[in-house]
This record gives sequence, C-alpha cells and structure tokens, in this order.
Amino acid sequence: MNQDELKKQVAAAAIEYVESGTIIGVGTGSTANYFIDALAKIKGKIDGTVASSVASAERLKSHGIPVLELNQAGQLSVYVDGADEANEFLQLIKGGGGALTREKIVAAASDRFVCICDESKLVKVLGAFPLPLEVIPMAQSYVARELVGLGGQPELRQGFTTDNGNIILDVKGLEILEARKLESELNNLAGVVSVGIFANRPADVLLLGTAKGVETRTAT
Ligand code: A5P
Repeated sequence: MNQDELKKQVAAAAIEYVESGTIIGVGTGSTANYFIDALAKIKGKIDGTVASSVASAERLKSHGIPVLELNQAGQLSVYVDGADEANEFLQLIKGGGGALTREKIVAAASDRFVCICDESKLVKVLGAFPLPLEVIPMAQSYVARELVGLGGQPELRQGFTTDNGNIILDVKGLEILEARKLESELNNLAGVVSVGIFANRPADVLLLGTAKGVETRTAT
C-alpha cells in the first residue's frame, strides 16, 4: 500500500467516530481531504461541520456538506484531522499546511480529537518535522531571535499568508522532549499567535494507517 492508500484507509476508519445528529470539526491537509470525501457518503447523518481552513470549507461545500461558523455551532462532538508528527502520548506537531491556529481552536472546542495519520508520522521524539509558528508580521524578527536563543533555526515560509493574515516561521533543530512546557513557553512570546505543538490538548485517539491495517491508539 502506498502512502496515499494508507491515508485513505485511515480517513475511512474515522467515519466510525462521527455521531449522528451532531456538528463535527474537520481538519486540513491531504489526509483530512480523504476524510471529507468519505464524509460525503454519510452527509445526511450529521447536522453540519466546522472547518479548520478556507480550503477544507470549500471542499466540504463542494460535496454539499453544510459548513457553519464555530460561533454558531457551539461545542463539537468530534474533531478529525491529520498531523505532521505524533508521539506515543498522542502529542502532535501540526501546521504543515499553515492552518494550525484554526486547527487548535476547533480541537479545543471538540469533545474528542481523532487524529488520522499514516504510520510514517509516528515518531519517538517530536521535532524532526520543522515546527510551524503563526506569527503577527511585525513580530517576525523578534520572535525569530527568541527562537534562535532556544536553539532553533527559524525560517520564514516564503510566499505564504495564513487564513488569518499572518506569517509562518518553520523552526528546525528543536528536539521536543517536554512538549507541553515548550508549547506554553512559545505561546507566551509576544507576537506568536499559535504554536504547532498540540500537547496541552493532545489527540484522544490516534488512527494509524499501516500496511497491516488501521491501528487504534490511545494515550499511554
Ligand atoms: C495543516 O495545517 C496540518 O496541520 C495538517 O494536519 C498536517 O500538515 C497533515 O497534513 P497531511 O495529511 O497532508 O500529511
């Protein structure tokens, strides 16, 4: 099975976590896109969705799936999204697609976070994938200097503006051993909108697409 087939398989498995008559959160990225396509087949079962990006909202609408604003929807039953890295504690790095802030908001407003990944995303220690930070443009240099002070190598994501009108700094060289602590520390830097570490609100369930089938993990 190639990586795309693993993503498709795991996205289909996440449909089991969709409860009838509820509004669900939908993430962003290629794995989340497969989930949206699978959701289209059971769209009559749900009351609507909240999307974590403009791109996902467009894809949902193209399938005729209702998309609501989070402020109208209230608490969501489940949030289904991919990740760039996941560890055994179901702490994640997200934001490869640049949608981390909205993803974090939708995850926070959901009773359950189901993360869907192919097995290549499972790591012992987070940080090989460059950590994305959404930053207010005027704080770029200040935040970059602080990140260098913490041992990171920040790089501006060229030609990219987030759905919220901000920039992304991708930070290489961080070995994230204390994910919750680093998430809070980086969140506290003036000008940082959000950090791509999802450790203070990790996933509740990790569905991992493997050659042998879908593995279901909960935090150890
Ligand atoms: C989007 O901002 C990210 O957090 C995605 O969830 C992450 O990049 C995973 O994307 P893929 O499913 O395309 O690997």
